[in-house]
Amino acid sequence: MNTKIQPKTSIVIFGATGDLAKRKLYPSIFNLYKKGQLAENFAVVGVARRPWSNETLRDTVKASLEHEPNRDVVEQFCQHFYYLSFEVTNKSTYHELKTLLDEVETIHKIPGNRIFYMSMAPEFFGTIAKNLKAEGVTDSGGWTRLVIEKPFGHDLESARALNQEIRQAFSEEEIYRIDHYLGKEMVQNIEVIRFANAIFEPLWNNKYISNIQITSSETLGVEERGGYYDTSGALRDMVQNHMLQMVSLLAMDPPIRLTPDEIRSEKIKVLRAIRPITEQDTSRYFVRGQYGPGVLNESEVPGYRSENNVNPHSKTETFVAGKILIDSHRWAGVPFYIRTGKRMLLKSTEIVIEFKGMPMNLYYSENQTQSNLLIIHVQPDEGLTLFLNGKKVGPAGGTTPVQLDYCNNCVDTTNTPEAYERLIYDCMLGDATNFTHWDEVELSWSFIDSISKAWEKSDKDLHFYESGSMGPDASMELLEKDGHQWWPITSESKEEEKRSRSNESFRY
Ligand code: BG6
Repeated sequence: MNTKIQPKTSIVIFGATGDLAKRKLYPSIFNLYKKGQLAENFAVVGVARRPWSNETLRDTVKASLEHEPNRDVVEQFCQHFYYLSFEVTNKSTYHELKTLLDEVETIHKIPGNRIFYMSMAPEFFGTIAKNLKAEGVTDSGGWTRLVIEKPFGHDLESARALNQEIRQAFSEEEIYRIDHYLGKEMVQNIEVIRFANAIFEPLWNNKYISNIQITSSETLGVEERGGYYDTSGALRDMVQNHMLQMVSLLAMDPPIRLTPDEIRSEKIKVLRAIRPITEQDTSRYFVRGQYGPGVLNESEVPGYRSENNVNPHSKTETFVAGKILIDSHRWAGVPFYIRTGKRMLLKSTEIVIEFKGMPMNLYYSENQTQSNLLIIHVQPDEGLTLFLNGKKVGPAGGTTPVQLDYCNNCVDTTNTPEAYERLIYDCMLGDATNFTHWDEVELSWSFIDSISKAWEKSDKDLHFYESGSMGPDASMELLEKDGHQWWPITSESKEEEKRSRSNESFRY
């Protein structure tokens, strides 16, 4: 990302009164402005159904920036915001939008570059895209881009239908499908760690790696999103997109160049090589769970079925663990284990690469060595840990675990940009590397669909887990069957380390 370019752009946000806009989009655009990555030549046109004025929108933006001490900058920033009350199916409102955009682009000297950002109910994405084109809002004299928030469809069929609709108005190169995990610093770092280090890339295959584990756990429940979540579940909400994207970055071959096309085509090859799971085999490879009541941070929390807007008999999964196999020369025989869930013990995203043991380990007999592990901490800490075996200090000999830690966000105190900040800026620059190509979406859905179909047919393998735990026991058994175990995610193991230091043996 070249942070010196100051793109001149209008951003039309559909869903400007919504939660995502307030929590993520306004603060991210503000950060770009404050850091000087956006020049004065930008405008944001907020669009939604409510009959707001420019002032109401500006007050909302100010409120979402309440922690910013420099109120003058906030004030200047807000002068770039405009509001239009909008009816998705009413053609005349598209004409009003076009007129407003022409006006604000004259005021702010923007050469017709327009980003249309869909941050609203997905059922309207197709209609809006088609009308933008049909009513001439995309005829601007500059470039136009469409940013689409997830969910991109509910299954393969609906994703295809949506794609066909938006492709009538925008070409694949103009479509930026957001997966905010691709904007995270350490997810972007996966490529650098792998392809810029001669000590890792030669080992990055089935000869040296035993298995890879990706955990993305959350402590939050479904909060206010029960209505959406109950029809989605963790498989569609997290696995189809974020988890499979991390798998493809970890498994891809080195691209021949660092261009969006080359990187995406390597990721697509991985998704093509993932072994499909038949409906009959689903329970051997995937585990689903739903949270019951429990205690988190010393407070009692309700079970999923008691959450707002959730069916009290819901069978929706709030936890998924799975074993993914990639049928390629590099990965044959190496399981990629994924797990994600709500109301778990910790908020954490972590990737563990477990290396195979030594061909002949002199210390096996004493059962003293641990697998070498490379851990990529995605959040909340950002960094790397490498676990090695070293000699115990002192004459008695023996081995001891050695932990090499690198904390990314401790060294770079300039505060890593929010995923959205980076992605919005990339879109302004026309860099689609960290957005999902249609082929990736299509392949992910076709993998996910057979699992969700199997789950729709029967609920006998829905496992309940206590809120505040690491998911149902069945998730542990999934790995135990293969002779593996989930490595405790770091914050969990830090606690354990503290406890066990006192009795001289700790896990790593
Ligand atoms: C979103 C899901 O895509 O990712 C949410 O819809 C989930 O349900 C969120 O909470 C997790 O994102 P992060 O960045 O907090 O790990």
